[in-house]
This record gives sequence, structure tokens and C-alpha cells, in this order.
Amino acid sequence: MKQIFYGLATLLFGVLISACSAPEKRGVGEQRIFRVTHADSAGRMISEIWTGEKLEALGTQEISSEYFDRAMHSNGSRFSATAFPRLLKEFALKRGEDAVLLNCFDDYQGILSLDDIYRYDLRLASRIKLSSWSSKPDWLNPLLILVPDGKRPSFQERFMTANIRELKFVRLNDYYAPLKKIAGNSLAAQEGLEVFKNNCLFCHSLKGVGGNKGVRLIEAYGFSNDAERGKFMMDFKNFHHKNNVDKQDVEQFVTDEKLEQIIDYLIVIAEEPTVTKP
Ligand code: HEC
Repeated sequence: MKQIFYGLATLLFGVLISACSAPEKRGVGEQRIFRVTHADSAGRMISEIWTGEKLEALGTQEISSEYFDRAMHSNGSRFSATAFPRLLKEFALKRGEDAVLLNCFDDYQGILSLDDIYRYDLRLASRIKLSSWSSKPDWLNPLLILVPDGKRPSFQERFMTANIRELKFVRLNDYYAPLKKIAGNSLAAQEGLEVFKNNCLFCHSLKGVGGNKGVRLIEAYGFSNDAERGKFMMDFKNFHHKNNVDKQDVEQFVTDEKLEQIIDYLIVIAEEPTVTKP
């Protein structure tokens, strides 16, 4: 009985708190650490443990992000964030690394080129303050990639990585190599690969590349037949729409034409013979 009462009290108290103030998601500084993995001067891969405090000591700013609010259908979200280019200064990259892989707690795997990080002055948020608490999905935790106001990269899933547990320096060409060979000469398939890389691969891995939050699509659908392709489209729209309970509205990033291009690419990849041609 006592326990029930206590449970009820915390529940009520919790509700009161969230009704009275814009609650602050605990930042990586209080609850989390993350790793930065890179090659040392001898070429060995080493992993450094970083805390939120260490990141914040490089300098933080309180910012908003229209890009984030647009993608999350929210408004007035605020963040404490560190400039990603500032963090990059801490590492001497000597092996042609030109991208950062973002491994996340929930099997999401993001990747950003160093070019994009500099060009759009991307930020790493260590604290997230949403204006409406009830709508926070589980995955929306620091570290979070943010596009600061005033920068306008094209609108895609690529710039929405959250829940980051490891930053790892890599080469883009190496990372995408297993996927590139397969697109072949078809222009539609090549475009499809680009759309897939910018919006889907983070959760739906292909040929061992990418994250595993969602199913492996080429195993789930037989892309050689029309009915299965139609089902793919339907399932996509039934899951990734704007009212998705877990806020995985991916539909906003892709037109029907882009989805068709993705299918063109997946057809090619599904038909890929296991022996490589000369
Ligand atoms: C944030 C992660 C994430 C991203 C990004 C993402 N998906 Fe998904 N997707 C999921 C999850 C989770 C499901 C739920 C079913 C599952 O476990 O696969 C799903 C389901 C689907 C389904 C239905 C599969 C089924 O078994 O019902 C399709 C089709 C699909 N996604 C295609 C795509 C395409 C195409 C893209 C890119 C344009 C994409 N997804 C981007 C996570 C993601």
C-alpha cells in the first residue's frame, strides 16, 4: 500500500513538474560519456573517453534550431551546444579521414563528412530543452547533431542524428565502398543510392553498412516483383508518416519520385550476383 502511495505521489509530482516548467532533458554531462575513436600517430586505433563536461569546456552556446523544429514538428526547442568544428581541432587526422561515423545507443549509425561539418557549422548538443515534454521520443537524447539557424543544408535525415555514444573518424570512400560498386551504370539506381544514403541507411543497413534500428529491407522484400514493390511503398507510408509514434517521420524527407529511385537501387542490389564481375 505504502509503495502504491509512493508510486502515485511520484507520478503526480512528475506530472506537476512537467506542467509547471519546461523540463530539461538530462545532458550527456550528467548521465553519459561518449567515445572518440581515431588513429594515433603510429596508425593504431585508439578510443578516448569523453564526458559531457569535457566537451562543454570547449565552449557552449544556448541556441535554437529551425531545422530541428521543422523535422520534429515542434517549436521553440532550445539546446546547449558546442561547435563541432571546435571539437575537430582536438584531433590530428593524418590518414586521410574525411568523415565522422556516429554510432548511437539505439543501433542508429549516422555519418557526416568533415566538409559538411565545416560548411554548415554543425553543432553537438549536450543538453536538450524541449518546449513540450510529452512528445519526447526515447531516442532523442544527447549527443545530438544540430544545424544552427542561418545554415541551410538540404532537408534530410542525415542531419538529425541523436543518442550518440561514439564518434569515429573514417574515410567516406571506405565506408560506402560495398554499396558503390553495385549501383552500376543506371542513373536512377545511382540517384537512389544517394537518397538511401542520406535518409535510410542510418537505420536500414545494406551489405553490412549502416545502422540496424529497422529491418534489412532487401531481406524483407522481393524487389523483383511488382506486388512486393507496391507493398514496400505502402509499408513505408504506413510507418514513416508524420504521426509516427516514435517521431520517425522520414516521409517528409523524400518525394514519391525519390522513393521510386530507392526501389530502382534496391532492385539492382537484390539482383547482385555474389561473384564480382571483372
Ligand atoms: C530512424 C530510423 C529509420 C530511418 C531513418 C528509416 N527507417 Fe524505415 N523503419 C524503421 C523502423 C524502426 C521500422 C519499423 C519496422 C522495422 O523494425 O523495420 C521501419 C520500417 C520501414 C518499412 C516497413 C518495414 C516493415 O517491416 O513493415 C519500410 C518499407 C521502411 N522502413 C523503409 C525506409 C526507407 C525507404 C527509409 C528512407 C527513405 C527509411 N525506412 C528510413 C527505422 C527507420
